[in-house]
Amino acid sequence: MSKQRILTGITTSGTPHLGNYVGAIRPAVEASKNSDVESFYFLADYHALIKCNDPDAVHRSTLEIAASWIALGLDTDQAVFYRQSDIPQIPELMWLLNCMAAKGLMNRAHAYKAAVQDNETAGEDADFGVTMGLFSYPVLMAADILMFNAHQIPVGRDQIQHVEMARDIAQRFNHHYGEHFALPQALVDDDVPLLQGLDGRKMSKSYGNTIPLFLTEKKLKKYINKIKTNLLEPGEPKDADTSSVFQIWQAFATPEKIAEMREEFAKGIAWGEAKKQLFALVNAELAPARERYEALLNAPDEIEAILQAGAEKARAISQPLMDEVRRAVGIRPLA
Ligand code: TRP
Repeated sequence: MSKQRILTGITTSGTPHLGNYVGAIRPAVEASKNSDVESFYFLADYHALIKCNDPDAVHRSTLEIAASWIALGLDTDQAVFYRQSDIPQIPELMWLLNCMAAKGLMNRAHAYKAAVQDNETAGEDADFGVTMGLFSYPVLMAADILMFNAHQIPVGRDQIQHVEMARDIAQRFNHHYGEHFALPQALVDDDVPLLQGLDGRKMSKSYGNTIPLFLTEKKLKKYINKIKTNLLEPGEPKDADTSSVFQIWQAFATPEKIAEMREEFAKGIAWGEAKKQLFALVNAELAPARERYEALLNAPDEIEAILQAGAEKARAISQPLMDEVRRAVGIRPLA
């Protein structure tokens, strides 16, 4: 039996933060070392254009995300690491899938529905500010996935619906044109922590409450000191389970250290002291990668070469499959 294929995309519209690290990057880097599966990780730069119209921001984010993954030890020999826009077959496939995807299915996509809802609340026209990019985003994502016949798609909860849509579109295509695509499945890991941000809500770029992944030591310390706490004094027992400081600690510490810190909280550790220890812990894990990251940012040609090698491996799969599906739909030479 051929190996299971695992594939996931990272939208290049932002600077990686600690939440991305513990929720996606760290587990993916681990998984990239597993030779029992084939992993595909790609920079979803076409997806970035849906929410970001600033060319410099898209370009910068692509560089930062690629540098982060490589610096953190992604095994780019074992895994296929590429940039979406280097694979021309993806948008090509998207068109064929567009012609199979039901509009009614897209109407139900969360991101689109949320935009419509916001417009209605604001008394605007339902489709105000909604681009075709936003509307057909699940079809582009389906093309990303089906192009490589991926089986398992590690995603956050918010993306499960999109993977189900990809599956639905694949089924329709297969039913009409014959079996060409594997049916993908979302893989949601309940063990990876969902980090809280500086204000205690989920760490997210849209809340502006993130701790960027690669900061200087001085800045990392500053950010950690900004994590919201309560007014309990040193010596007063503190509730570990409702504390963002403890929650981030849990994402980085060994089980023994987690138990120790829980006890310190019960004994009333001062917030300043808990944050000092949290800084030391997080910094120790990230410091070696931070140096590689800085070096890579200054050597974009190295990153580009890695991405080009990845794209070549990816195209060795996408090109023949695209030829196959073009023929399947009736697009082929006349003679
Ligand atoms: N839309 C995903 C997100 O915002 C990123 C993404 C794009 C993706 N294409 C994908 C994830 C294909 C998994 C598979 O997180």
